[in-house]
Amino acid sequence: MRILGIETTCDETGVAIVEDGRKIITNIVSSSVAFHTKYGGIVPEVAAREQIRSIIPALQESFIHNSKIDAIAVTYGPGLIGSLLIGIETAKTLSIVWNKSLIPVNHLIGHVYANWLEPETRNQKLETRLPQFPLVALIVSGGHTNLILMTDHGKYQWLGGTLDDAAGEVFDKVARVLGLGYPGGPEIEQVAGSWSQVTSNQKQATSYRFPRPMIDNNSFDFSFSGLKTAVINYIKKTNLTSKNIPGIAYEFQQAIVDVLVSKTVKAAQKFKVREILLGGGVAANKLLRSQLTVYSSRLGIPVRFPPIEFCIDNGAMIASAAFFNFKPMSPEKIQAEPGLHF
Ligand code: KG4
Ligand code: ZN
Repeated sequence: MRILGIETTCDETGVAIVEDGRKIITNIVSSSVAFHTKYGGIVPEVAAREQIRSIIPALQESFIHNSKIDAIAVTYGPGLIGSLLIGIETAKTLSIVWNKSLIPVNHLIGHVYANWLEPETRNQKLETRLPQFPLVALIVSGGHTNLILMTDHGKYQWLGGTLDDAAGEVFDKVARVLGLGYPGGPEIEQVAGSWSQVTSNQKQATSYRFPRPMIDNNSFDFSFSGLKTAVINYIKKTNLTSKNIPGIAYEFQQAIVDVLVSKTVKAAQKFKVREILLGGGVAANKLLRSQLTVYSSRLGIPVRFPPIEFCIDNGAMIASAAFFNFKPMSPEKIQAEPGLHF
């Protein structure tokens, strides 16, 4: 079965055709991120306008080979209302005109299903084994931080999430205060990477430790605003130079990754899962990937993360989620839900 997946929750316009939930036929992602860079964050009005500009060209490109599809999937939340509406109204129209089933998909569940997709690039190892249930998924993006337990397709238990700022949001805010670009995650990762080249004498001169909020707490909730404030307060007292920025970025990244990894591994242990999955934009972070792999391998639990191109928002993950959770709804019943939870 071929499903057309449409994703327009924020600043990416994603349109993809996926066969049987795994095989990419086409995957078009058009991003308006460059328009938001100068503001240091997403401007909803600009994002919605760019969605309108991008959706028709993305659809045209997807059907350039006259691909046949059997159903349509669309993200209905959570996300920015203006952006969501573009994808939803487009999907409803196509569903009615083409007489195809329409499946509404929760964006966060979409990020989990990015792990079912086969990599597009040939040099990536093809993981033929499907994710094994029960599993714990950590979904970390610009707007969300969630830990969920999945015992089967469609069977989720939300274990916890952020009480304040999302992980990606904190990366973006700290990057801005450090004078780095937007989105902040990749910028912080890159600058932190250069810290390993600094000699140990210089490292001593700028060594400090930021808090790891709620790391020893038994719940699976997170709180990152205290960490953000600690980093920002430290920066305010410090004369920022190209010498100390890498050290601050490094310690901040380490602090947030320590908390994410600790909670995820605790959940995996408690629920005796067979796998850990990562998803969302922050899942692109190499330290998060490697540290989670190291700690979970000590417990004998494999970790799986999507290729980087599927960590960012895309239509393929939405089509995959719809294939494995095939619950069509009539178009007039589907509404945008900006504040949708699990
Ligand atoms: O999932 P996503 O593309 O959009 C949302 O649904 O929010 O996630 C975007 C977020 C941004 O906050 C960005 O800074 C973060 O993901 N991000 C990263 C990395 N790449 C993107 N955070 C840390 N390290 C990265 N390499
Ligand atoms: Zn996302």
